[in-house]
Parts: sequence; C-alpha cells; structure tokens
Amino acid sequence: SYKLSALPSGFRKEGPIVLCILDGYGLGKDDPSANPIVAAHPTYINDLIEKSKSAGLYKQIRAHGPAVGLPSESDMGNSEVGHNAMGAGQIYSQGTMLVDESFKTGRMFKTENWKTVVGETASHSGTLHMFGLLSDGNIHSHIGQVEQLIDGAVETGIKTLRIHVLLDGRDVPPESGLKYIDMIEAKLASLAAKGVDAKIASGGGRMYVTMDRYNSDWNIVRRGWNSMVHGIVEEADISDKYKGYYHSAREAIEACRAAFPDKKDQYNLPFVIVDEAGSPIGKMKDGDAVINWNFRGDRAIQISKAFELPDTEFTFFDRGTKPKVRYAGLLEYDTEVHIPSQFLVPPPEISHTLSQYLLASGVPSYAIAETHKFGHVTFFWNGNKSGYIDEAHELYEVVPSLPNSETETHPEMKAKEVTDKLVAALESKKYRFLRVNYANGDMVGHTGNFDSCVKCVQCLDREIARLDAAVRAQNGILIITADHGNVEDKDHKGSKTSHTCAPVLFSVTDYTYKGEYTLIPDTVKPDGEGKEGSGLSNIAATVMNLLGFEAPDVYRKSMIQFK
Ligand code: 3PG
Ligand code: CO
Repeated sequence: SYKLSALPSGFRKEGPIVLCILDGYGLGKDDPSANPIVAAHPTYINDLIEKSKSAGLYKQIRAHGPAVGLPSESDMGNSEVGHNAMGAGQIYSQGTMLVDESFKTGRMFKTENWKTVVGETASHSGTLHMFGLLSDGNIHSHIGQVEQLIDGAVETGIKTLRIHVLLDGRDVPPESGLKYIDMIEAKLASLAAKGVDAKIASGGGRMYVTMDRYNSDWNIVRRGWNSMVHGIVEEADISDKYKGYYHSAREAIEACRAAFPDKKDQYNLPFVIVDEAGSPIGKMKDGDAVINWNFRGDRAIQISKAFELPDTEFTFFDRGTKPKVRYAGLLEYDTEVHIPSQFLVPPPEISHTLSQYLLASGVPSYAIAETHKFGHVTFFWNGNKSGYIDEAHELYEVVPSLPNSETETHPEMKAKEVTDKLVAALESKKYRFLRVNYANGDMVGHTGNFDSCVKCVQCLDREIARLDAAVRAQNGILIITADHGNVEDKDHKGSKTSHTCAPVLFSVTDYTYKGEYTLIPDTVKPDGEGKEGSGLSNIAATVMNLLGFEAPDVYRKSMIQFK
C-alpha cells in the first residue's frame, strides 16, 4: 500500500508546499563573464537564498552522474534522469546504463525482438534502417551504442544497412556534427570488406527534423518521416542556396552551413542522399526493418507513433503510403501506454513514486509547465508514465510554448503565463503539493546565447518574486531547486550549448517556520558510500516530511533534521 504514516512527533505543515524546479539552473562560477546568472544579478532569488542559508534551510545538491543513475562522474545531468530522481525518491540505473549492460552480456542480440526485427529481415535479404541522434551526448543516445548495433546487425546477417542521422549540437558542442559523421562513415565503409552495403541515407538537425516532444510541433516529425521513409526533402526547405539532395552527408551539412551560418547543427535542414542518377539511396519499403537507436523517451515517442499507429489513429500529418516495416525502439519509451510495441532493452522499472504515495495519503497535487517541459513535471516525474495517477485529486496544466526557433529571441518564454496559472491554483486552495518547472534556464541555455541567458535569468527573478508573494499569502513553503546545470556556464562566442555537471540549489522558504527543523549540513552523507552528499533523489523524502509523513524505507533519506 502507498499510504504513508504520519510522523510520530505530529509535525506537519498545513500550508501548501510549492516545489519550483528551475530547469537547467546550476550553481556555477562567481564570474559575470562566464556565468549568466552572476551577470543577471537576480536580486530576489539571491535574497531568498541568503535568508534560507541563515536559517539553515539551504543546501547544494547533486544532479549529475551516479547521483541520478548515470554511469560516471563525468556524465552531466539531464531532465529525464533529474525528474525521475526527484519524482521517485530513489536512484535507478538509467536507460543508457541498461543498454550498455545489455551489450556487455550479449542479451541484446538474444532477445525475441532482435530475432524478429533484425533476424527475419536478414533472412529475406531486407534492408535494416537505423536512425537517431548521432553524438556521444549520452542523453538521448550514444554513438558507441550505434556502432555496437551495427556490428550486431552484420553478425546477424544484414547485408544492406541504411542510417538516418540527426545532428545534435545541443548535448555536444554546437557545430561538432561532422566529427560524428566522419566516425560513422568510417564504420560503414569498413563493412564493405564483409560484403555489406552500408550507407547514410538521410538526415537533418534534431530540433528541425524528427525529434519533437510533447506534441509541440508535428511538422518536425513530418520532415523526418518524409526524408527517411520517402526520400523527400520538402519544397519549403529547398532553395537556390540549398538543394536538399546530395551525394554525401558531409556535402549536405557543408552546403547548409554555407547557406545558413546561423542554423548550427540543431537546426540543420533535412537532406536526402542520392545516387549518381539522382535517386534516393535509402527509401523504406515493405519488409524492411527500422531501429530507433535513441534510448530516451520524450523525443522518440512521436516518431514511434508515426511508424506504429494505424491510419484511423494517426491524425497528425499525411504519412503518404506507409511501408510495412518492422519497427523497434532501443528502449520502451512510454511504460504506461507501451510505446513502441517492440523494443530491444527493457527500461528502468520506476515504481513507488512520490505521486503514488502522496495521492494514496490524501494530498491533492498540482503540476504545471509550458509545453517544452510539460512531460518533465508529469511523465518523467511519474517514472516515465503518461497520464494522471489519480485524476480526481490531481490537476496537470500546460501553457503552450512558442516555437523552438523563438527561444533565443524570447528568453522570457511563457514564464509569466506559467506563474499566472500557478498562482491561481494556489489561491484556489485545492492543492497541498504543487510543482512547477520553469523551462527558461535550460531552453535558453541550449541556444548558447549569453545575452539571452542573462535575460532569461532576469525574467525568472521576476516570476519567483510573484510566486513567492503568493506562497507567503497562503502561509506556505516555497522550495527552489533545479534538475541539472546549463545556463550557469556560457561564453560570449556561443560555443557552450549543453548541460553541465554542476550541483544545484535546494532552498526552503517556510512562512510558518519556527525553527523546528533545519537541513542536514552539506558535509553529511545521508545515504552512504558511492552517491555521496545529498542529491535530487533526497527531495521526495524531504517533501514527505514537510507534509507530515514518514518517508518509506525504500526512499533515499530526507534532508530534514528535526530539532
Ligand atoms: C533536449 O532534449 O532538449 C536535450 O537533449 C536535453 O535537455 P533536457 O534534458 O533538459 O530536456
Ligand atoms: Co536541456
């Protein structure tokens, strides 16, 4: 049962608790030329931090590496693993680790799905297509895993392989794409000696082609579908400067860069590789197999639906004639709705989430974000499960985002509208636990634009001031934290677009505080060896304590120490 017991001391805060997640807002250097947060000088946030520090209600916590279920200290945090850890109060080995494990043990190639998707395709000499994000960012994918999939496919007897590549520039430097293209080209060329015809067939930038999330813009998915499946670059993307059809990925990417120097890898236009006669070399046809090599769910779900849903259920764009292919994801992306139906590695089985406990214990709950991060505070928060836990006692609200391409010029994004709704939810007095994700630090951070980052932090400062006033009016508690670093580490050249390994803040402002508790000091290691110091996974038990409950034994420890 998920019903929590009350704390024996009877401690319980009656007012609402708001957990405010500043996405991508890490603690960086005290240098205004390298840290947009310092340059922005967010006086309101700084003041809250100072006050919580002097009350003993402030900590730095860990948001990367083993503290969030990633292999090593050099693995930067990300929103999926961060929200999983916050929402589940435990540390799970994350997708990338499970995939690596499956290669190591060889289990990957022994699964039924591998046999049906790859084995059967090989046995009738069909083509295996593979697509996904091509980099070593290790947030959605890893090129080392792609190479191992290729080796496995060849071993299984695949003779024709077509690769559809999405340039990154968001989890890795902004124009590093050709490095990964060269690596994969070398790998594919080496297969000729084994009699395998292996080539890159299409591609484009991840934010413009294929990898949309949370139904923010299906045009992105359609462009990817048309280029990978039908070998078509849409008219709108072709001009005198950019032909769309090229003889190699390098030629296409260089052409795009020359024509549109501002686009960088994330927004590289779609391309299709053609042969001497001008015909696409990698259209998909009946009997082919398709593997999506991304392991992370949010940006893999819509394209998976395009491959799997029947015409009666797929209403997002015209897919043209849909070839009958066998489709598999590297992981299962949505563990509630089961997307996709075939996958190669079982995902982490995240259970005993904070939402399950709180709803079973009579705590009405609320969540809000703008589109770009909506699934983060709902789907990732609830252990990669879509939908409500208990619809009668929960409300999830979304504020529609601007298009991705406007993030840099509108660093305020929809923060104000998010606060408006959140404040209304607080004033309704219906919810005891409310969580919000402000997307700005992360989304603007990924543009790499220093000045936009400064503006986004100034905007966050204004919104926190409004939110704090509303929490104070309800005699509530405002907790400010972040899921990982990003915006705190930039330069003026725009060369830093990715997340960081920075710790994040954990600041408690309690408007009925009477000194009954403090946070355990930074030097104390609440959960022992290996995952030292407090981290995102310690938040859930902390929230439980503040709400008056004992945390369950399976949880990482609370950061509260009662006096
Ligand atoms: C993205 O998908 O935008 C990035 O790869 C990761 O960012 P997020 O983990 O903050 O969503
Ligand atoms: Co991010």
